[in-house]
Amino acid sequence: MRFPLRFPQAAAGINIPEVTDHEYNDKHTKCVNDSRNHLDFQTVPIQIIETGLVCGNKKTHIISNVTSTVLFSDSRQLQVSAMDKYDFTNGWFDHTARKTWDQVIPKIKPKKILEIGSYEGASACYLIDNLDSSTGIELHCVDTWGGGIEHIEDGVDMEAVESRFDKNVAMALKGKEKNVSLIKHKEQSELVLSKLISDGQRSTFDFVYVDGSHQAPDVLVDAVLGFKLLRVGGTMAFDDYLWAEDLPYGKDPIRCAKPAIDAFTNLYFRKVQILRLPFFYQVHVQKYSE
Ligand SMILES: C[S@@+](CC[C@H](N)C(=O)[O-])C[C@H]1O[C@@H](n2cnc3c(N)ncnc32)[C@H](O)[C@@H]1O
Repeated sequence: MRFPLRFPQAAAGINIPEVTDHEYNDKHTKCVNDSRNHLDFQTVPIQIIETGLVCGNKKTHIISNVTSTVLFSDSRQLQVSAMDKYDFTNGWFDHTARKTWDQVIPKIKPKKILEIGSYEGASACYLIDNLDSSTGIELHCVDTWGGGIEHIEDGVDMEAVESRFDKNVAMALKGKEKNVSLIKHKEQSELVLSKLISDGQRSTFDFVYVDGSHQAPDVLVDAVLGFKLLRVGGTMAFDDYLWAEDLPYGKDPIRCAKPAIDAFTNLYFRKVQILRLPFFYQVHVQKYSE
């Protein structure tokens, strides 16, 4: 069987065929070429990964192959970051988001933004640096600064992470304080998003970035509440579609974002359109109905 050319509306239970690196690279190159100049509202034409929710079998194996291929080819092309002036301890944003955002953000020009998961502020600083703030930007950064399970298990010092966030965004905001209003919400995302909804901010955000907890049930909550806060025509972006933790027992089917993103895009297929993107690591959707 050839794999179906749909993404990510995968029906659970579809058999994953063998995919060679050669086939993957051909398809990936074609998709990149097809979509590089066409950021539009059509569905992504191809995708190899369909399900892959079971640990330790071929499906997981395919996820890892594709992840490493995408990350490897991206990191080789990394340019020297304009964000070198900041104090970041990792290159997540450069590796997984920058190239996609370089194409998407200038087109959607968001003014009111909800970021779920801020860490040291890499994505927030990118937005402050790259958006035209002359008519005002409102950027809500939501994070517990307690870390996700993966950070806690790695012993990351989250107090230091939060201090770097404060320092980095302060540097990005220098000279733009009048035009950029940054609202820091230090709380669980489900509480912050629920409060924003009850405060009457439903359907007011132009851009929602989902990059907080990477546990599938949490990502689903962020997606559903984020959708309510997004205006019709706005864009919601998910990071880490291809990410899964390497655990001693393999990859865990719900310690990753993919099943939640798949579930959300399947359940909301009448209300969102998946955008074509040059790379697979993120999934972006546009809301077209309440
Ligand atoms: C991958 S990092 C965000 C990276 C950031 N967007 C960047 O570009 O550098 C994920 C962040 O989500 C936060 N987080 C995890 N679970 C959360 C939750 N339930 N509510 C709010 N924040 C959460 C963590 O503290 C961590 O700082």
